[in-house]
Amino acid sequence: MKLKANIAAMEAYVPGKTVPGAVKLSSNENPLGPSPKALDAIREALDGVHRYPDGAAAALKTALTRQWEISRESIMVANGSDEVFMLLAAAWIGPGENAVSARETFSQYRYAVHLFGADIRELPLSEGRFNLEAILEAIDRQTRMVFLCNPNNPTGTYRNHDEIENFLSRMPQDVIVILDEAYAEFADQPDFPDSKALLKKYPHLVVTRTFSKLYGLAGLRVGYALGNSKIISGADRASMPFNVNNLAQAAALAAIADEKHRNATLNLVQTEKAFFSAELNQRNIFYYPTQANFICFRLDTPIADLWTPIASRGIALRDLKSFGLPQMARYTFGTRKNNIRLLEILDEVADK
Ligand SMILES: Cc1ncc(COP(=O)(O)O)c(C=O)c1O
Repeated sequence: MKLKANIAAMEAYVPGKTVPGAVKLSSNENPLGPSPKALDAIREALDGVHRYPDGAAAALKTALTRQWEISRESIMVANGSDEVFMLLAAAWIGPGENAVSARETFSQYRYAVHLFGADIRELPLSEGRFNLEAILEAIDRQTRMVFLCNPNNPTGTYRNHDEIENFLSRMPQDVIVILDEAYAEFADQPDFPDSKALLKKYPHLVVTRTFSKLYGLAGLRVGYALGNSKIISGADRASMPFNVNNLAQAAALAAIADEKHRNATLNLVQTEKAFFSAELNQRNIFYYPTQANFICFRLDTPIADLWTPIASRGIALRDLKSFGLPQMARYTFGTRKNNIRLLEILDEVADK
């Protein structure tokens, strides 16, 4: 037996950790939990779990066609956006070819590309943001896809509409640009990219979204991609027949309709972002201005050394060593009580 070299070389995913007794704010999940309407839908769908799910996810896709004003052929629903990246890579990249992305970003792009024996070129961020010029320069004839994370995980920074549009217009038309917008719903800057408009204009653009963050359904695994039907149908061919289960489809559909829960989540994130950023300012702690539901800040001591003292005092945050940022932490905004607690802990344990 011989393990394939590309698989042997892959590094395991490092998830956000927690310990008993600590509030987990390390994986950018929704601190308000799932939508109550989604929970009702799950309870109702339970009686039908002896049936296979709808492989076409028809009802969910119909809701998404309305939201995005896009045809059903332009949508792919999958087992989390993680699976979306994997299916895109399965269909559109292979050995001898490459993808381009950033170094300090979400690791699943690397995973997807390596899984299919291709290479990924990862360029350093520039002042915490995707370096679009460097990405353009790194593209060659073997480049099949580019991954942009906007807002970026883990920095929370973003590239604006004009910057993304300029990038798309200069990108060769046969390179697929995957714009991962897992956190886009939390963005509040007026110049944040309007991806609905960009999709109409750029046939090599694929936008991905997830139900794991705003909608609080991370445990059910639902994500989707939007793009031209040729790219989407290619990726869909690589999919297992029933990749999104009954409960996940029912919950996602109900969550889209739950405006109350969505607004409550957005209010919490905006209010706590303002509160927490102001508190960090007062303490002279560096952070990147964020457009996401988390914030990335720097302490003088490597976070790996502080993680346990912080967690043992009640908050599990994310140590960014695996992202190549050992001095930085990523914290998902929690309730006011959680956020005050973390500030108290930082006052106690961190050198400032
Ligand atoms: C930038 C980014 N994209 C995608 C995902 C994965 O989303 P999903 O839960 O839909 O697989 C995450 C999860 O942390 C993320 O941070």
